[in-house]
Amino acid sequence: SALPGLLARAPKAELHMHIEGSLEPELIFALAARNGVALPYASVDALRQAYAFTDLQSFLDIYYAGASVLLHEQDFYDMAWAYFEKAARDRVVHAELFFDPQTHTARGVPIGTVIQGLSRACADANDRLGVSGALILCFLRHLSEEDAFATLEQALPWRAHFIGVGLDSSERGHPPSKFQRVFARAAELGLQLVAHAGEEGPPAYIEEALDLLGVERIDHGVRAIESQALMARLAKERVPLTVCPLSNVKLCVVHDLADHPLPQLLAAGLAVTINSDDPAYFGGYVNDNLLALFDALPRWGAREAYQLLRNSLEASFAPQSQRAAWV
Ligand code: ADE
Ligand code: ZN
Repeated sequence: SALPGLLARAPKAELHMHIEGSLEPELIFALAARNGVALPYASVDALRQAYAFTDLQSFLDIYYAGASVLLHEQDFYDMAWAYFEKAARDRVVHAELFFDPQTHTARGVPIGTVIQGLSRACADANDRLGVSGALILCFLRHLSEEDAFATLEQALPWRAHFIGVGLDSSERGHPPSKFQRVFARAAELGLQLVAHAGEEGPPAYIEEALDLLGVERIDHGVRAIESQALMARLAKERVPLTVCPLSNVKLCVVHDLADHPLPQLLAAGLAVTINSDDPAYFGGYVNDNLLALFDALPRWGAREAYQLLRNSLEASFAPQSQRAAWV
């Protein structure tokens, strides 16, 4: 069929990817050697072998260990540049990158080192690849709200280099309500607001993210399928869900792609988008996600492809003038 080519070549936005989750094993080993960091794995293959996850936490433990090779501004630049080159090949015209400053500041890396390296890669992606990039600072929800506040304050000298804040890491037991005050502060600063909710956590966490944090998009949100009332609300309010199909399979959120709730979410009128989450860990980049999904869902065709990709462009935080050129 013509669909795989159409999916691969059509312009799209990626709205849910963690830049630390784009670190390929080869780059982890190269940066470890460059920085003299010891790794608890003997080889690239041994590391890749460890990528067998049973849930979100089993992934996060390995993901934070992989990020330990990032020390200098150039390391953050090289990581983001490698992602942008792949994104350009996937015809991503706009990418909003999550980053986790606390993973780095806890190891003594200054937040300015992180932001400057990533921001320089965004500028170069725009100039040399025609991909517009933007940064979203994520708070680690397993840490305290006080720690999130301190992180936001440390980032303020670089306020112009990021467009919003998000909430990620271990969801269960760390509801959005824990971060209500720091999100209110971010809103005062004019930042865009998003949060992971309803990946492993219950539908009530999606409602908290909307009602207590005031987020404009929900990251994942797949457990909305368990509440008819919430589904109706998300459809009516056109709240975008940034869904990550290969991630959901690898972290055992869904059994396999053929069982994914995406067809019901799309049919119910929700503004769902397709994203890679942590492409180096979950088996591929955004086009790999699209191709695998359409392969697993034989009833989906060009209509669904067009809707999903248009949703990604419309749900982006790119200025209206830029979005008008896409849709
Ligand atoms: N950090 C990186 N990937 C994540 C995910 N899928 N859920 C929560 N936190 C994350
Ligand atoms: Zn995520």
